[in-house]
Amino acid sequence: SRDGSFEEGAPATLEEVAAGVDFCRRCELWRDATYGVAGEGPGKARLMLVGEQPGDQEDLAGRPFVGPAGRVLDEALEAAGVPRAETYVTNAVKHFRHELRGKRRIHQTPSAGHVSACRWWLDAERRIVRPRVIVALGATAALGVFGKPVAIGKSRGQALQLADQAQGVVTYHPSYLLRVPDAETKAQAYAAFVEDLKFAWKLAG
Ligand code: URA
Repeated sequence: SRDGSFEEGAPATLEEVAAGVDFCRRCELWRDATYGVAGEGPGKARLMLVGEQPGDQEDLAGRPFVGPAGRVLDEALEAAGVPRAETYVTNAVKHFRHELRGKRRIHQTPSAGHVSACRWWLDAERRIVRPRVIVALGATAALGVFGKPVAIGKSRGQALQLADQAQGVVTYHPSYLLRVPDAETKAQAYAAFVEDLKFAWKLAG
């Protein structure tokens, strides 16, 4: 509710999710964040893409994947032939965890506790959207989607069983692709990322 107490019941619509996320007090991350960022996309998307948490620009815009990682994601989706507008894009954690260094806000990986607290919202989005396939982008997303740690390098690019009707796919996080120092390794990881998105889209079709 808007007075800061916990919601009475689970949200039934994406509008309720968006409003609820912005007022969420299930963990402390709301204190230093601008917006709680809910997912975006059609309510009946066949494919759901799950990231880690909003970054600096997403926090300021209140929208998922609109910053540098979003540009990598957009480019890879385009290369894979996946229309982003037909996917539901969200994050495992809805508030931006960061620390201040001077005026700069430095990304911090959310803890397992944050992922666990925020699963309330991810589960609500899953129940409402009912995607056929859920792609977890990176380890934090996979922890949120599967409820347990998944080794990305070992498990990427294949259909994994989930407790709900959906099938799960894990792949790299787009920010990881930005950070790989070696050019060849980076190109290989990017190509694998595009392949995984292609695979997930086909699986969802
Ligand atoms: N990284 C994420 O995981 N999610 C976003 O929304 C932006 C960057």
